[in-house]
Amino acid sequence: MRLTCVILAAGEGKRMNSPVPKIILCLCGKPMLCHVIGAVEKLKPAKKIVVAGRHHDKIKEALSMSGISYVLQPEPLGTGDAVLKAVNAAGKIKDAMLVLNGDMPLITADMLKKFLNLHRRNRNSLSVLSFIAEDPSMYGRILRDDSGKAVKIIEDKDATPRQKAVREVNAGVYLINPGVVSLIREIDLNKKKGEYYLTDLVGMAIGNGLKTGVYCIGTEEQLMGINNRHEFLKAQAIMQQRIINGFISKGVSFLIPSSANIHADVRIGKDTLIYPNVSIEGGTKIGTGCTIHSNVRITESLLGDNVLIKDSSVIEDSLIRSNARIGPFAHLRPGSIIGCHAKIGNFVEVKKSLIGDRTKALHLSYIGDSDIGKDVNVGAGTITCNYDGSKKHRTVVKDNVFIGSDSQLVAPVSIGIGAYIGAGSTITRDVPPMALALSRTNQKNIKGWALKRRSKVRNQKSKVKGERV
Ligand code: UD1
Ligand code: CA
Repeated sequence: MRLTCVILAAGEGKRMNSPVPKIILCLCGKPMLCHVIGAVEKLKPAKKIVVAGRHHDKIKEALSMSGISYVLQPEPLGTGDAVLKAVNAAGKIKDAMLVLNGDMPLITADMLKKFLNLHRRNRNSLSVLSFIAEDPSMYGRILRDDSGKAVKIIEDKDATPRQKAVREVNAGVYLINPGVVSLIREIDLNKKKGEYYLTDLVGMAIGNGLKTGVYCIGTEEQLMGINNRHEFLKAQAIMQQRIINGFISKGVSFLIPSSANIHADVRIGKDTLIYPNVSIEGGTKIGTGCTIHSNVRITESLLGDNVLIKDSSVIEDSLIRSNARIGPFAHLRPGSIIGCHAKIGNFVEVKKSLIGDRTKALHLSYIGDSDIGKDVNVGAGTITCNYDGSKKHRTVVKDNVFIGSDSQLVAPVSIGIGAYIGAGSTITRDVPPMALALSRTNQKNIKGWALKRRSKVRNQKSKVKGERV
């Protein structure tokens, strides 16, 4: 079946109380609209059209990665008007048009496939998805006759108290055959709301003798619409649980699954263990057999296999190769590449730097704009001085270098292969391979100085006491 998919995203979303259109608010790291598009794409539609409104520039930005274009609905004149704008832009509808509200991010491709099969099997001209809502007041109600056949959809604002008591509601997903498309133009303006209701199409199609089916095959957890922040939080919790359950099935372990915040596009390998209060965000990919301790945040990063991230570390836009160990309390800022078996320890910050295999920087260091080779020992308190007040400069440290504690490497500077830097040195010039660089002042030992000092202090104290007596 050649499907034209239309996703409605031009509503103002006023009930969300946000300056950002609700449709692009991120749920588990991805705009709501993109969750819907993700489900739709699995049906391999011939055409995808998003209807955008006043905030079309922001929607365009959210769509930029997907390559989907949008049509404009200049004024939010209702879902009927929005679909009409898509119909005008779509050209000839071949087999059917699948229309979905953009504010239902929990929809799945499986649910849509089931719906599509029912539409086909029953040879309908129009099909609608419904579900039983716990509180139906936010939805249009499905009205059925005594035989149980759906006859129309009535919106909450227009419903009588008896109709309001109906709990079967319209999910906002429709399959519309070309024969019904022409009726969209005939939808009347709803005077109460000043909008054209797409939902009127059901009564109109039935009135025109066109076969229509309403299928109550989903649950609220799959089909709920997000209109306000309470519903948004509910949907977020449902989606988070879905994501975590998916990982558990694939062999990932969590100590307290409900405490994890894991985005929709994250990938995690088998046998990885996640401690409580961990946040894994963006398009992060984690290998197999890794351990992520508590209070860690990892975003837009790649981790190889058997990586250990100890407590309270922050990892942003970085690559950590297999068997490396990070933290506790480490900060990998964007552009950090950590080699295999390397160790980055407590209170170490790395930025835009390459750390070679087996290199260790275990305590209290800043490594910025640096290329550090393999098997390097970065002593406690080593600082790369990469910024001269206006420009950033690089530090190069070749393989097998030993940097003594409390050293400063003033960039641009290069340390040759196998060289030693004496502890407490400030290195301002390149160090040749295999050399020892020392820049601290020579130590002076003054024999007996402490003894003299102590007796002097003692004398002063007894003098003061004597004066008091
Ligand atoms: C709509 C349905 C209701 C259904 C519910 C399911 C109508 C009239 N009502 O109500 O029967 O139970 O969805 O969640 O359709 N939009 C536009 N242009 C507009 C108005 C809305 O593109 O002018 C888009 C919105 O961005 C949203 C979708 O259409 O994605 C639905 O709009 P919304 O205002 O949320 O409709 P509901 O009141 O929830
Ligand atoms: Ca809605």
